Amino acid sequence: MAMKILIVYGTTEGQTRKIAEFIREELEAHDIKVTLTDATQNPVSPDAFDGVVIGASVHAHKYQSPVIHYATKYHAALNKLPSAFFSVSLTAAGDDKEAHAELEKITSDFLDLTTWAPSLIEQVAGALLYTKYDFFKRFIMRLIAKKSGGGTNTSEDYEYTDWAKVKAFSNNFISILNKQ
Ligand SMILES: Cc1cc2nc3c(=O)[nH]c(=O)nc-3n(C[C@H](O)[C@H](O)[C@H](O)COP(=O)(O)O)c2cc1C
Repeated sequence: MAMKILIVYGTTEGQTRKIAEFIREELEAHDIKVTLTDATQNPVSPDAFDGVVIGASVHAHKYQSPVIHYATKYHAALNKLPSAFFSVSLTAAGDDKEAHAELEKITSDFLDLTTWAPSLIEQVAGALLYTKYDFFKRFIMRLIAKKSGGGTNTSEDYEYTDWAKVKAFSNNFISILNKQ
């Protein structure tokens, strides 16, 4: 029988959804049945699945609260299954050591808080979607981008996601599933 995987994601501007959809396609290409749910849409319990992938993006040093709630509520079920977490941020696109250490702390604080212990964790670079931001977000993100070496032309969008890395993450998770 085909394996069943649940993917739950939190997204603010849509990049984490795009990455979650890419992971779904990768799993489906390996004959895995995938249920994909936005964390705001009251995702089902992990119980009926063979594994779970959760994704969230960083905004002002935090992940989306519906993702925190989901992982906290279901940590016991999650800890019994193969599970994977992918974290999406702009920091992951750069090579600032201090910023990366801070990012690792954001991730470990989230996992400590929820008491979820994923089998696999990945830091994925997100996007700067200036054309989708309102005036305030565009202003703030341009300042951050300028400091961190990101794109600053606000009439353009910049995607930093390394799709080969997301593909490798998906395949690593499949290997973990196959070892069960
Ligand atoms: C208002 C705002 C605040 C952000 N804060 C952070 C941050 O604190 N650290 C970081 O690494 N990236 C930060 N980012 C970058 C996002 O993580 C990145 O744009 C990501 O692709 C967003 O994913 P999403 O579209 O799924 O929400 C921020 C982006 C916005 C728009």
